[in-house]
Amino acid sequence: MCGIIGIVSHEPVAGRLVDALKRLEYRGYDSAGIATLEDGVLTRRRAEGKLVNLQRRLEGDPLSGTIGIGHTRWATHGAATEANAHPHMAGKLAIVHNGIIENYRELRAELEADGAVFESQTDTETVAHLVNRELRRGLAPKEAVMAVLGRLEGAFSLAFLFDGEENLLIGARRGSPLAVGEGEGEMFLGSDAIALSPFTDIVRYLEEGDMAVLRHATIEIFDEHGNPVIRPVRRSTGKAFYVDKGNHRHFMQKEIYEQPEVLSHTLGAFVDMTTGRTRIPNGQTLDFSNVRRIALSACGTGYYAALVGRYYLERYARIPCDLDVASEFRYRESPLGDVDLALFVSQSGETADTLASLRYAKGEGLRIASVVNVQESTIARESDVVLPTLAGPEIGVASTKAFTCQLISLAALAIHAGVARGVISPERELELTRSLAEVPRLANEALALEDTVEALSREMATKRHALFLGRGFSYPLAMEGALKLKEISYIHAEGYAAGELKHGPIALIDDTMPVVVIAPHDRSFEKTMSNMQEVAARGGRIILFTDAKGAAGSGSDMASTVVLPDMPEILTPIIYAIPLQMLAYHTAVQMGTDVDQPRNLAKSVTVE
Ligand code: AGP
Repeated sequence: MCGIIGIVSHEPVAGRLVDALKRLEYRGYDSAGIATLEDGVLTRRRAEGKLVNLQRRLEGDPLSGTIGIGHTRWATHGAATEANAHPHMAGKLAIVHNGIIENYRELRAELEADGAVFESQTDTETVAHLVNRELRRGLAPKEAVMAVLGRLEGAFSLAFLFDGEENLLIGARRGSPLAVGEGEGEMFLGSDAIALSPFTDIVRYLEEGDMAVLRHATIEIFDEHGNPVIRPVRRSTGKAFYVDKGNHRHFMQKEIYEQPEVLSHTLGAFVDMTTGRTRIPNGQTLDFSNVRRIALSACGTGYYAALVGRYYLERYARIPCDLDVASEFRYRESPLGDVDLALFVSQSGETADTLASLRYAKGEGLRIASVVNVQESTIARESDVVLPTLAGPEIGVASTKAFTCQLISLAALAIHAGVARGVISPERELELTRSLAEVPRLANEALALEDTVEALSREMATKRHALFLGRGFSYPLAMEGALKLKEISYIHAEGYAAGELKHGPIALIDDTMPVVVIAPHDRSFEKTMSNMQEVAARGGRIILFTDAKGAAGSGSDMASTVVLPDMPEILTPIIYAIPLQMLAYHTAVQMGTDVDQPRNLAKSVTVE
């Protein structure tokens, strides 16, 4: 949820700390700050709001120093003010933190009883005072940090800087990601490889409970028991995907337009395009022939992708599936009796609720597979089988290309499972993978509808509420389309199974309520048309997304009809998602909201 960076060097660090924070801003942007040692003395600069405010502060009041830490914040404890901005300081040290210290209240009470004076409302400052107390008791920095880590409950990644210690950075993690990078006579630590990629591609990821001690020429890593450990180098992919907007106005629009390309990359991982046969990527083994039941779990857009995945797996592989939002799955304590596989869907691979659900399922002895976009992420590293979406870094907070890549991965997986279970013949497999191979072309055709959709967004931008309806494969899309609209335009939107309308929501229908209906001419089209007549009869304004046959059969009651190309049913969730993304995007642009960094949100929710 927040981004942290640290550099120990012989060269000035302030500018590079800010550069790294620019790459981390997608993790949160309520405030930002850096601290360095200027002639050995701890000095910091902080600013409320976006990183550009800190940059302005530093232009007027620069920081020198060859060692420092930095932070960009998504507020969890304490409002988004400068006083609550990191780095936090206490006595001889400064600290930046990503995560939540769940027992900070009792720790703070203990410290205040000891005479500690707090300047912020944050849980982070508690850690600073705890470590400072250990320093005052005579412990050296590494021992002081180690002593404190054992008292903390919750998920965190931390970086520490100490007064007078020009050649010492300490990092630690439990539950939130932290990576260390090797340079020439300088070392780095940060929340992910993207932050470190301008400096090095020699990256190691700390594991649960690890602590790292960085000096100019060395990185020592210790496990939670203080034993020295070695973590493998993972050549960072961050540099390979240097992110900029290209010729687009927002990252979200760029990422919508990247879909044909990244969908074909992802498809290639799951289908041998020369033989047309499906496969589990990277030579991994995932045998579906004896899987009795699958438990799927995810959050947000990932959950809607998992819902499509359930439809796919049950329709094409005939495997019964359970599905939960991750924040419920881990507490529902459902009897997992005949569940043999837990399947998680996550773009970032760091979502706390999804990770906790994965660990719950692992504790129950299930085999773990994850559809994940960040291959070095914690969820990927803790899965038995990693099913990669090759969408590249997704910077826009609203997920677009990752979602459709999740869908094509799940479609290929369902086909592969059906073949393994003998319910899909070799001929049928070829037919289905040939359909999947049409996705890049069809995605391009869907993108060509942008002007039509942009015109619709002008009216949508005048509304305060909207309903999205769909049946079958289009039902999860109705909810995803509603989520896209609400999270970037702030218009209240709900997605419903079209058949549910008459069980209550139809009371909402009048001429102020746009109703977006996703209805390709598939097996449930006629039923959905009946639902639309119910809406039209009450003055509802319908925006219909369908194909030529559906447009011909929909009657004259539609306010607007967007005609997508004909396609096999299995592709409809993937392709129909694109105009829904564009509808949300252009509505938000019309409304002048911050499309890439919508209020109150962050790209990766690494706290529960
Ligand atoms: C998607 O547009 C939202 N930003 C959000 O719901 C997101 O899908 C959710 O937080 C899950 O994130 P993940 O895929 O990285 O786990």
